[in-house]
Amino acid sequence: MNSRQKREIIVAEDTAALAAAAVQRLINRVARDGRSAVCLTGGSSPEGLYRLLGEEPWRGKVPWDCVHWFMGDDRFVPESDPLSNMGMARRLFLARVGAPRGNIHPIPTDANYPEGAANIYEDELKSFYGADRLDPSRPLFDLVLMGLGPDGHTASLFPGARALDEKSRWVLAVTKAGMEPFVPRVTLTFPVHASTREMLFLVDGSGKRDILHRVFAGEDLPASRAYSDGELVWLLDRAAAPETVS
Ligand code: 6PG
Repeated sequence: MNSRQKREIIVAEDTAALAAAAVQRLINRVARDGRSAVCLTGGSSPEGLYRLLGEEPWRGKVPWDCVHWFMGDDRFVPESDPLSNMGMARRLFLARVGAPRGNIHPIPTDANYPEGAANIYEDELKSFYGADRLDPSRPLFDLVLMGLGPDGHTASLFPGARALDEKSRWVLAVTKAGMEPFVPRVTLTFPVHASTREMLFLVDGSGKRDILHRVFAGEDLPASRAYSDGELVWLLDRAAAPETVS
């Protein structure tokens, strides 16, 4: 699959409706028994979803013992730092609901270097998956959340970066971020993000309308290159939706 993959676009009335639609999709994707895996994202767009997961009635609908939580990219800072994506997810829901420790898989930003963290996380993903190679008929994740940056980046895959073309590595260090915050990052690559039953982009606010227009028009931007072995869904709020999207 490539960026020409058919995408479903859903427009929610506002940010609250976007979060409600996202939490419902997440609950539909996670298994009630056995295990399932969700790959989280950072930035502000998923905050509403994360808050809902920490509150009733949604909290009571998640089979916490069965769901494993990964992070698609993180800033190379301690989890206590406000910039940490996993720190945010813990604060907003994982710590509040008491998700089992063994089910939370942070990118190890306490490693000595971003490259070391990338290697450790790649090994952890492979061990969870049980193989070194991804099989499109057996996705690693049940749901992958993605965001869209104002420059068209997604995860920590920035315009012009070599990481955009990576086909064999699962996780990479990004020593130079393409935009703020300018801290090193660690990111999953496109083929690993793609290994999912559903990829769900969350995009809100009028500030995203122009870049979204460019992505939907097919411009070669990182977010346009994202694909999924399963469904590819863009969930927008009305303020972010370009005119071309009804
Ligand atoms: C990060 C993200 C990044 C984010 C987009 C959108 O760590 O910065 O994972 O890819 O999703 O920049 O961010 P907002 O939701 O804050 O607009």
